[in-house]
Amino acid sequence: MSRHFATLPLMAVLALASAAPAQTHPPPGECPQPRFTERAPAEYLSRSNPVAADSAVGARLYASATSNTVGCATCHGASGDGRGELAKLFDPPPRNFACARTVRDVPDGQLFWIIRYGSPGTSMPGHVRLKDDEIWQLVHHLRKLAR
Ligand code: HEC
Repeated sequence: MSRHFATLPLMAVLALASAAPAQTHPPPGECPQPRFTERAPAEYLSRSNPVAADSAVGARLYASATSNTVGCATCHGASGDGRGELAKLFDPPPRNFACARTVRDVPDGQLFWIIRYGSPGTSMPGHVRLKDDEIWQLVHHLRKLAR
């Protein structure tokens, strides 16, 4: 799979997800969670969040479906615990944002890059139709979920 994954319709996401037998999948919601995600290019990694947090906007974007994918919460869980209703289908499982030990040292720009382009070879879809400001509000929201 590649960044073009972002353009696949939801049904394709679900078909790919259900192709592998469930018992081979690592459990969702581990903390700390093993993380093998590709590193963002340097020009993204060095960016820190340039927008002021608007918690209502971040929460709405996190919960809502976009035109090309389901809402973040469907996979990552409403509380960010990595146990959304589809989470068991995926290997690797969705990131557990509630687990501060896993996500506190992941730079803002890394989160931004993965939200925009997706994580190649995983079920994390890209969100190329979201505006920069919307992605930064999502990054703020993910930080709020960590504890
Ligand atoms: C179809 C399920 C699914 C949806 C929808 C989804 N994610 Fe993910 N997400 C995943 C999976 C699976 C991973 C783990 C990928 C990996 O390990 O590289 C992941 C990983 C991530 C990461 C980890 C980046 C890193 O470097 O560790 C971020 C950030 C993220 N998702 C944010 C979001 C946001 C924000 C949304 C909504 C706009 C969203 N995701 C929607 C499944 C999903």
